[in-house]
This record gives sequence, structure tokens and C-alpha cells, in this order.
Amino acid sequence: MCGIVGAIAQRNVAKILLEGLSRLEYRGYDSSGVAINNETGVRAHRAVGKVQALKDKFEAMPLDGKLGIAHTRWATHGKPTEANAHPHFSGDDLALVHNGIIENHEVLRRELIELGYEFRSQTDTEVIVHLIHNALKTEPDFLKAVKNALQRLHGAFAIAVTLNDENERLIAARKGSPLVVGVGIEENFVASDQLALLHVTDQFIFLEEGDVVELTRDAVTVFDENDQVQDRPISVFNHNVDATDKGEFRHYMLKEIYEQPKVIAACLEGRISDERILTSCFGANSAFLKEIENIHIVACGTSYHAGMVAKYWIEDLANIPCTVEVASEYRYRKVAVPKNTLFLTLSQSGETADTLAALRMAKQLNYLTTLAICNVPSSTLVRESGLTLLTNAGAEIGVASTKAFTTQLTALLITSIAIASEKGELSAAQQAELVTALRSLPAYVDAAIKQDEAIKLVSEQFANKHNALFLGRGPMFPIALEGALKLKEISYIHAEAYPAGELKHGPLALVDETMPIITVAPNNQMLDKLKSNLQEVRARGGELYVFGAKETGFEEAEGIYYNEIPWVEEVLEPIVHTIPLQLLSYHVAVVKGTDVDQPRNLAKSVTVE
Ligand code: G6P
Repeated sequence: MCGIVGAIAQRNVAKILLEGLSRLEYRGYDSSGVAINNETGVRAHRAVGKVQALKDKFEAMPLDGKLGIAHTRWATHGKPTEANAHPHFSGDDLALVHNGIIENHEVLRRELIELGYEFRSQTDTEVIVHLIHNALKTEPDFLKAVKNALQRLHGAFAIAVTLNDENERLIAARKGSPLVVGVGIEENFVASDQLALLHVTDQFIFLEEGDVVELTRDAVTVFDENDQVQDRPISVFNHNVDATDKGEFRHYMLKEIYEQPKVIAACLEGRISDERILTSCFGANSAFLKEIENIHIVACGTSYHAGMVAKYWIEDLANIPCTVEVASEYRYRKVAVPKNTLFLTLSQSGETADTLAALRMAKQLNYLTTLAICNVPSSTLVRESGLTLLTNAGAEIGVASTKAFTTQLTALLITSIAIASEKGELSAAQQAELVTALRSLPAYVDAAIKQDEAIKLVSEQFANKHNALFLGRGPMFPIALEGALKLKEISYIHAEAYPAGELKHGPLALVDETMPIITVAPNNQMLDKLKSNLQEVRARGGELYVFGAKETGFEEAEGIYYNEIPWVEEVLEPIVHTIPLQLLSYHVAVVKGTDVDQPRNLAKSVTVE
């Protein structure tokens, strides 16, 4: 999704801004731009497509200066064209970049046109820069004029703005979209994601809702939503977890798949003893665990699939009802909240607009408390939730989520066992057995990754496929959904997932020799039922791709491709069985030659509704 970088320094900032944009590429975008403020005015280059196209423009015609703003755009209002790319200008010397959506842009646009402003783009953003320009007519102070203009906006925004007469300060603000200040020595920066600034600083100030910030070379002044100056703390980034280096891997996605044993171990660390879950991982006061009588899980995308798996664990282990819902639906309906219900959000980024809106709504309802399972400690979701359990996966760069998902599942299993134990549903011996299984998880995942070469061979069969069907039963159904999502996200093959028992109620009509059926086979009481469902597929000529443990008894045969997965305790099967599906979609995308890490039209973190 859109990204912002801004800089004010004693040196030329053009390269800093372009490198910042490259570091934001993983978030997904379709055009980019940079504006540099120097003695000759505010000048910009913009380009459609990759940041490299923008860099080429800088090569051909350098723009140098000590103050600048930059942007990667993911189109919402208006096509991905150069005219719609940011920075947007009012006149020639006021430029602005914006993330988010201005909901009242149509009213403001009409008003500004009446005032004589000419619009050069179809974006909602352009109203902001003209509003600031208009505010400067009655309020000559740049900072105050920006604050006045922002009062008119409804919706979500993070902005950075520069004015030619004001080359000693850069103004930025956030409300509803993330923004972080990078603190340097005689230079300061602003960005929508701290990863964009790791090449210039490791000191960050996370802005809060409604903050406006004035950056000079020597100072950072933050004004809160009541216009009071605030001394916000500086956090130091731990460089050991800089994920922006691909290392020996061809793609971030593959690197992140291979990191899973390590990050799952990091997710378990400090959360389990030899025989139990350390409930202190939920914070000092974990008494709420005993009181939970219901759970509502709300999330989007891959995180939603993690929630669907958790429902099986929570109801099975803790014997309490659990509902799972996508945030974009939850936030717009009247929700009945039973007594002592835990509101649980799942999010890799902690910045997904729908999930944040759902949390804010839930906080007005009568929930026991709110818990966020999230990968980004400094995110808005973490800051606004009552309790947090971090997944510790390290930054995930590939748009298709992999390690974030399996660490979410690990954190959810920890949570399910903790609730079940605190509610007296598990004996000490049962808890110890589950914890022992959890300890083996990194090694199991490692063993599953070792199937990489075999899965790569299978993936070649998909080069000419246009459709695929994923089947699973029980907690393997959400894993099938996640497998289908991965395949469509990065290889653009149309894929659907069904509970295997539903096959005969419709999707069987699609099955013929052109339709591959992918299934993750658990080694449990559902196995025989699954096998019967698969017979139905073979009888119609469908090709089967089965991933399962040796104990499932599957074997290669005509029209059946079988890949072995290591045996694991049943409770861990959803996590370990995810790995071959990740590898399959990765290799299929490579075979098809798509942009694996930045698939078309998608964004890593969806900060607009
Ligand atoms: C986007 C990403 C998905 C992700 C979803 C939810 O669509 O491309 O990979 O699952 O957002 O994101 P979250 O950060 O809330 O987990």
C-alpha cells in the first residue's frame, strides 16, 4: 500500500529518499514520486511502475537538495498514471504526499474549484494540498496553516508537506494511517514504516493519532491532537532483525519460508516452560484467562485463516464457543456480545484499516478485554489493544504472508492451551504433553521444508493450469483456504478451497482432467472420509496432489502425486501442513514468471478501507 518518506538534512537527500522508496516496495504500489525543495524551487519526478523507473529519471535529470518528500502510490482514487502519482502540488512551490483516504474529498474538491483551484489529478489527495495553499492565504505560518487545513479532513491520512519558502522545516501529520519519525544527527526523517529509514537511522519516534510534527535539521517537535507539545519517547531499532536483506535467496518469500523454524522458536521463547504455558506472556495480569466464556476472533486475509484454525483448537481444548469473522464485515454489523467474551484480533502488520476499525468498535462494546496477536510491536493495533501477544516473526517483506501466518498459529495454540488449562479443561499431564509437542514444532517445520526440491518438481505440472481446487477437512479446511489464497495471490491461478465433504454439493461439477485437486491429508479419524472424497475426484479424471504423512497410506499412482510430510502430533498438523502449500505456490509462481514478492494489485499492509 502507499508509502511515505521525507527527509531534512545537511546533505543531498535524493538518494536517501529513493533508497527509502526501494525499501517500501514490498508493501505493494503502482507508481512513485519524489519532490526536492532547493534554492530553485520545489521540483519533482514521478513515474508509473517500479521505483527503478523513478531512479532512471533521476539518472537522466538529477534533482539535488537538502529537503524532500517521496511516495509510493497504490491506486485508490484514479488510475495508476503519472498525473495521479504523488507528490501533488498546489501552485509550483507547495508539494505533499499522502497515505490513506479522504472521505469528504468530493465536497472539498467542489469548494476548492469554486475558489479557483485547478485540479491536475483524479486523486482525493490533491484536495489536501490545495486546502493548505488556501489556508496559507489567511495564516502565513506554514505549520499553523497545515494544522488548520487538516481540520477540514474526514477519513484517514498520513502526510508530509514541503513549501519552498520554508526550506528549514518539513511538516508531517498522521490520523488513521501510520507515520514514524526517524531521528538523526543534524538530520531528521519521516516515513510510513521504519524499515524505509533503516539505512539512515535506528532511532524512531512513533507518532500517535492526531499528531502533527515539525522537523528541522536539529529538532523534532510533536503536537498532539489538542495542539499540545508532547515529548514522545525514542525507540531504538534492533538491527539483528533487519529483514530487508534477501541474503542467498532469490525472493523474500522463499527466505521467509525458510526462516520459519527459527521464528517459530522465537515465538515460543519465554512462553513455555518444560511442562506448561507461562501465562505471564499475556502481561502481568493474566487472571482474565479464567474468566473467558466466549471468544470473538476478527482479522483479514491470511490472518483470518489463522483465526479459523484457532476456532478448532479453542473449542476442542478449552471447550468454549469461538466465532471467527472478517473485520470488514464485523465492523458494519450489530454484534451481540455474550458475557465474558474475549475480543481477539490477528494481524501481521497491526495497521490493517478494517481490523483497527473493528477493534475500535469492540472497545465500545461489552467485551471482557481485547487481545491482539500481532507481529509489529510498535503498531497501532498493539498500542490500542488491552493485551498483546507478539508473534516475533521479524519483518515480513513478501506480500504473500508465510512466516507471519505460522507464527500466528503458534501464538494461537499457546493461547488456546493457556485458556484451556486456566479453565481446568486440561490436566497438568495433558498440558505437559501439548507443550512437549510445541517444543518439537521448529524441528517438524524444518523437516517439512526439506521437501522443497520434491515440491519444486511437482510445481512444473501447474505451469499451464488456470484453475485449482484445494480440499481439507476439520482444521485442514482453513489450511486449504490459505493454500488457495497463496496460489492465487502470487501465481494468478484461480484457486478455491472447500471442505472435502462439500465437494459433492457443487464443486465436483468442475472436476475433469484439467483441474488439479490439492489436498492436505491429516492422519486422524477424518482420513478415511477424506480418502472417499478423493475417490470421487479420481473417478472424474481429476489430478490429485496429496500432501500427508507416510502413515496416511497414500502412494503415487496414475493421476496421483504424493508428497510426504513428516508425522506430527495431530494438534500441530495445521501448522506443519501449511509448509508444502507455501512451497508449492512459491514454485508455481516462479515457473509462471510472476512477481513473487510484489504480486500485481496487492499490498502488504492494507491501510485503507
Ligand atoms: C493484505 C496482505 C495479506 C494479509 C492481509 C491482512 O491483504 O496482502 O497478506 O493477510 O492484508 O493483513 P494483516 O497485517 O492485518 O495481517
